[in-house]
Amino acid sequence: MDTYEFIADDLSQTAELASQLASLFRPGTVVALDGDLGAGKTAFSQAVARALGVGGVVVSPTFTIIKEYEGTELPFYHMDVYRLSMEEADELGLDEYFYGDGVTLVEWASLIDDLLPAERLSIYIEYMSEHARRFRLVPVGEPYIHWCSRLKENGLLR
Ligand SMILES: Nc1ncnc2c1ncn2[C@@H]1O[C@H](COP(=O)(O)OP(=O)(O)OP(=O)(O)O)[C@@H](O)[C@H]1O
Ligand SMILES: [Mg+2]
Repeated sequence: MDTYEFIADDLSQTAELASQLASLFRPGTVVALDGDLGAGKTAFSQAVARALGVGGVVVSPTFTIIKEYEGTELPFYHMDVYRLSMEEADELGLDEYFYGDGVTLVEWASLIDDLLPAERLSIYIEYMSEHARRFRLVPVGEPYIHWCSRLKENGLLR
C-alpha cells in the first residue's frame, strides 16, 4: 500500500491540504481520520467543510456523534466515534452515510475499523510542534489512489 505525506507548518497549510482534497471529493467519498487528542482532526474537518461551501460554524461532533450539513452540492457528514462502542456504532447504520450522496469524514475512525468501507482515504495526523502537523495519507481503492498520485505529481504530497 502506498502512503503519502504532507507536512503542515501551520493551520493554513492544513486548510490548503483540506481544500485540495475537497476539490476532488464526490458522492460517497469516505475519509477516515486518526490521530491523538488535539492532533487536528476537527481542524482539518472544518477546513474541508469550508472548502465544500458549508456556511456557519462547524463544531466538533464529539457529543453529537454525527453532524449532517446539507444544502451544498455535496452533503457533508462529520462523525466522531470516540465515545461509541462498536455495538453502538453498528446500530447507527453508518452505511447510509458511507454509501450515500455526500462526503463522510470520521474522527477516530480506527476505533470502528470493521464498520468502515475498505475503500477509503485514511489520514493519520501527528503532532510535530505547536503549529506543525504531519499528515500520512493511505488511499485504498479508486478514486483515492488516483487522487493521491495526482496530488503528488502536483507537488502537494510526497
Ligand atoms: N497545522 C495545524 N493543523 C491543525 N490544527 C492545528 C495546527 N496548528 C495548530 N493547530 C491547533 O491544534 C488544535 C487541534 O484540535 P482539534 O480539535 O482539531 O483536534 P482533534 O484531533 O479533533 O482532537 P479530538 O481528538 O479531541 O477531537 C486546534 O486548536 C488547532 O487550532
Ligand atoms: Mg476532534
